[in-house]
Amino acid sequence: MVPGSGEGGSDVIEFADVHVRLGNRDVLCGITAALAERRVGVVGANGSGKSTLARLVNGLALPTSGTVTVLGLDTRRHAAKIRRGVGFLFTDPDAQIVMPTVAEDVAFSLRRRGLPREEVERRVREVLTRYGLDGHADHPAHHLSGGQKQLLALCSVMVLEPDILVMDEPTTLLDLRHSRQVADLLRELPQQVLVVSHDLPLLAGFDRVLVLDQGKVIADGTPREAIGHYRKTMA
Ligand SMILES: Nc1ncnc2c1ncn2[C@@H]1O[C@H](COP(=O)(O)OP(=O)(O)O)[C@@H](O)[C@H]1O
Ligand SMILES: [Mg+2]
Repeated sequence: MVPGSGEGGSDVIEFADVHVRLGNRDVLCGITAALAERRVGVVGANGSGKSTLARLVNGLALPTSGTVTVLGLDTRRHAAKIRRGVGFLFTDPDAQIVMPTVAEDVAFSLRRRGLPREEVERRVREVLTRYGLDGHADHPAHHLSGGQKQLLALCSVMVLEPDILVMDEPTTLLDLRHSRQVADLLRELPQQVLVVSHDLPLLAGFDRVLVLDQGKVIADGTPREAIGHYRKTMA
């Protein structure tokens, strides 16, 4: 399988011989890949290192050795800048909903960036409308359904206009209708997205898929090739 060739420049996520050791466990063992495609998927067995790989992209995790370069910057040295450029969505949206109402939650991160009040309100309205939550602006966030909470978490990340979006199993808690909605949104996002998922139909529409096994990339190519390989290893 031919790994996608990086275009060079700054819109690439690059792993260079990345090892991550946590406790006495080698969680990632020599990952090398330049990811320049718009939609990149990561699949693999439980415990294969997928979440750790995702967390490396915004500096939530750092390599024990090797280098991760994102937006042209070494994550070890430019964590703050990288976090501004890389939006991260966790599996469980409750983990990132911090304010009582929907609109306040989306506004929270913008306020922290010191934007003027009118600008914050305008951007909040805009993003809630884009993702179909405008009717819920003043509702308590914890009254939303699981799918709507996932959309809210997405709004709170997208309102910051990240260059790259990383999602760790974004459809795991969603029913079929809401996972389709997330799949549709991903198709339209102009940003580069890296998505960890067991949702094989979701990944089938991607540009490139990596398969992880015990901390190593064991397949890397088109979704067809990579998912085929994954199915065989899981059989
Ligand atoms: N902080 C940690 N300390 C020790 N081991 C960890 C830590 N975080 C994750 N691990 C281990 O690393 C392995 C990979 O974890 P993870 O990246 O979450 O895998 P996945 O997302 O593919 O399930 C797992 O075996 C997990 O138990
Ligand atoms: Mg995980």
